[in-house]
Amino acid sequence: MSVKKENVSISNPFLTSGYISAEYFCDREEETKTLTRLLTNGNNVALISPRRMGKTGLIRHCFAQDKITRKYYTFVVDIYATKNLCDFVYELGRQIVNTLKPRGKKALEKFIDIVKSLRTGISFDVQGVPSWNVELGNIQTPSLTLDEIFAYIEQADKPCLIAIDEFQSISYYPEKNVEATLRTYVQQCNNAHFIFSGSQRSMMGSMFTSAARPFYQSVSVMNLGAIAENKYAAFIKHHFEKNDRRIADDSIHATYEMFDGVTWYIQKAMNYAYSITDKGDAFYIEQLNSVIDSIVEENSDIYKNLLFMLTPAQKQLLIAIGKEKTASAITGRHFIKKYSLASASSVQKAVAALMDKQIVTNEQGVYEVYDRFLSMWLRKNL
Ligand SMILES: Nc1ncnc2c1ncn2[C@@H]1O[C@H](COP(=O)(O)OP(=O)(O)OP(=O)(O)O)[C@@H](O)[C@H]1O
Ligand SMILES: [Mg+2]
Repeated sequence: MSVKKENVSISNPFLTSGYISAEYFCDREEETKTLTRLLTNGNNVALISPRRMGKTGLIRHCFAQDKITRKYYTFVVDIYATKNLCDFVYELGRQIVNTLKPRGKKALEKFIDIVKSLRTGISFDVQGVPSWNVELGNIQTPSLTLDEIFAYIEQADKPCLIAIDEFQSISYYPEKNVEATLRTYVQQCNNAHFIFSGSQRSMMGSMFTSAARPFYQSVSVMNLGAIAENKYAAFIKHHFEKNDRRIADDSIHATYEMFDGVTWYIQKAMNYAYSITDKGDAFYIEQLNSVIDSIVEENSDIYKNLLFMLTPAQKQLLIAIGKEKTASAITGRHFIKKYSLASASSVQKAVAALMDKQIVTNEQGVYEVYDRFLSMWLRKNL
């Protein structure tokens, strides 16, 4: 049976991507309140957490509230795949146009009126339905288009809330001063407030807490932690029971511990557990290990591929870190000997590459394989 809610019909209440509505969103009540209070009181926010903790979800949940949708235009711009200022401007423009689209021709006309450099790329069909045909090549002077977009934001008929997701990406842009330029726009903008969210903790952290960086002290920093276990347990049981299924606390507790409360892994495990539990039945803790094994196994081809793309030294180091779960002093003699690695300098080079590819994370000298399922797969298979 599928679950019906607000005209959406879904087959499993544990989402593993995206956001539907509050019904499928666990807790985050305090975080939502804080974020809303900051934004609606004139602050800009840096939202930071480890990967897959729920930043994007929290932004969507916050923006979905009635009190927000009534008063503001909200835009979520994901810049993960952007490589330079031109890509950034393109994404920002595209998101704004997509969001304004359902609001009709009038809302968009104002945009086209002000953002002259994108005008040729936006057209209306006979019914007045707009489409975005801008190509990257159309943006000849990104700084000019950026200036126009901010001019639009300033004059929009409602105040705007703009989330720039995966914000750490801008630090890889080849152009100098992007951080400083954006900060200037953001600070001069009276009609919009911003969320800068990102996951590479050290990178995001240094952008907002280092006195030498442009964004220093110009935003409120919010660190997003794990959802409390009792809240998660209530949410999981609610959805099992609502659909005539049962799950006991022991299974939930074991899952929460296994993944240190990181949201996406718990969602993934519960999605699977729910999917193998028939109506009228219960999920038992004895089934948990085989659920996790199955999820890991499903990713096997991806993981093999990933290893294939690495150099021998990177591969060897990844396996070593995976086996340790959390590894420190990886350039030390003991670690190098234990895993027959070549030398401290080759480990240093390899770990830099693995971190760059976001396969391995480093928190205060402790290295971990970022994908917990990959880490499990490495321990099991290699
Ligand atoms: N409060 C929540 N309740 C239920 N599911 C959630 C919640 N928050 C996030 N999720 C789910 O967990 C997954 C990860 O969340 P999300 O994408 O928001 O994390 P993120 O921190 O933005 O990750 P990344 O660093 O990879 O961008 C998604 O599938 C999302 O649907
Ligand atoms: Mg995200």
